[in-house]
Amino acid sequence: MDLFNVYPVYPVEIEKAKGFKLWDKEGKEYTDLYGGHAVISIGHSHPHYVKRMKDQLEKLAFYSNSIEIPIQKELAKKLGEVSGYEDYNLFLCNSGAEANENALKVASFETKRSKILAYKGGFHGRTSGAVAITDNQKIIAPFNNVHDKVLVDFNDIEGTEQALKANDIAAVIIEGIQGIGGVHIPTQEFMTELSDLCKKYGTILILDEIQSGYGRSGKFFAHQHFGIKPDIITVAKGMGNGYPIGGVLINPNIEAWLGMLGTTFGGNHLACAAALAVLEVIEKEKLIENAKSLEPIQKELFSKIPGVKEVRGMGLMTALEFDFPVGPIRKKLVFEHGIFTGSASSPNVLRFLPPLNVTEKEVKLLADCLTKVIENEKIHLS
Ligand SMILES: Cc1ncc(COP(=O)(O)O)c(C=O)c1O
Repeated sequence: MDLFNVYPVYPVEIEKAKGFKLWDKEGKEYTDLYGGHAVISIGHSHPHYVKRMKDQLEKLAFYSNSIEIPIQKELAKKLGEVSGYEDYNLFLCNSGAEANENALKVASFETKRSKILAYKGGFHGRTSGAVAITDNQKIIAPFNNVHDKVLVDFNDIEGTEQALKANDIAAVIIEGIQGIGGVHIPTQEFMTELSDLCKKYGTILILDEIQSGYGRSGKFFAHQHFGIKPDIITVAKGMGNGYPIGGVLINPNIEAWLGMLGTTFGGNHLACAAALAVLEVIEKEKLIENAKSLEPIQKELFSKIPGVKEVRGMGLMTALEFDFPVGPIRKKLVFEHGIFTGSASSPNVLRFLPPLNVTEKEVKLLADCLTKVIENEKIHLS
């Protein structure tokens, strides 16, 4: 059997990782400034993470949700404390798409409505409802194209209110910071008004913090920069530092009933141990503060790189927008300088999404290597 070929890949085999360093099978060293797609929050193979998972694995890796699983409650308590959402309830699942799909279901059950409002340029995953609410037709199969939805321009508050006025929208879903779309930050005014409008029209506000959450933006959740409190928040990626886990944080006003949601693997013992280790390291090593403190340093260094039109982002979620497509440059960074970076849906955007324990040295490394690659390429800079 061969693999179903859906991913373009670099011809590199990473065998070992530690912190923000990776090594391939020939022993060549790389620097991970992509965090395995914004997943590696506390660094690869962190000793506390490895120990907590090993200890759990030796005791019990999995038993189904038909029994008491105290480590789920321990995780909910810790996540509540670290995120500032102590009064919310947590549903555990396995991935970002699943977290959003469940969030949309909860909103629909709660409001007894079916329509979802989402924003152009957004991304919420590839399950049926989550993929249907993107504006990327290429990834929507006819099977997914049956959901009741409306797509509005990002930051368009008039368009949002126009759609909400019909009183038939179950939920508005929005990323804390648009990630794959190219790191676009909503405006303060838009977020405040959006939160007010959702309350006015009885619509559930879902903040997709799957990429922008877990400290990446310099606060635990990106929406906390705007002082709003959504009804539902979805998390995944950095939550397990590579071990698959997702979660839905739900306002206590929304009542659960037995059978409303379900999952086989969600909230298993090993996944909860991984997620607890992540929160403990984030707190102990002050990784959110680190993400915040590197923001101005990046802005200064990255904006001096030749051909950079704009540096956007918060904390360690950053986009560098160039005058030209960055695919060949990202490839040279990997093969000539051993640096992994991220792409975005716009071909001119390179994303910097490193583990949250990087330092000024890695920011400088990327700035220097990008400058070298661009100068050597003799790219025509307009
Ligand atoms: C904002 C956002 N939401 C949802 C998802 C989907 O997460 P997953 O791939 O874990 O299903 C992603 C993945 O990139 C994402 O960036």
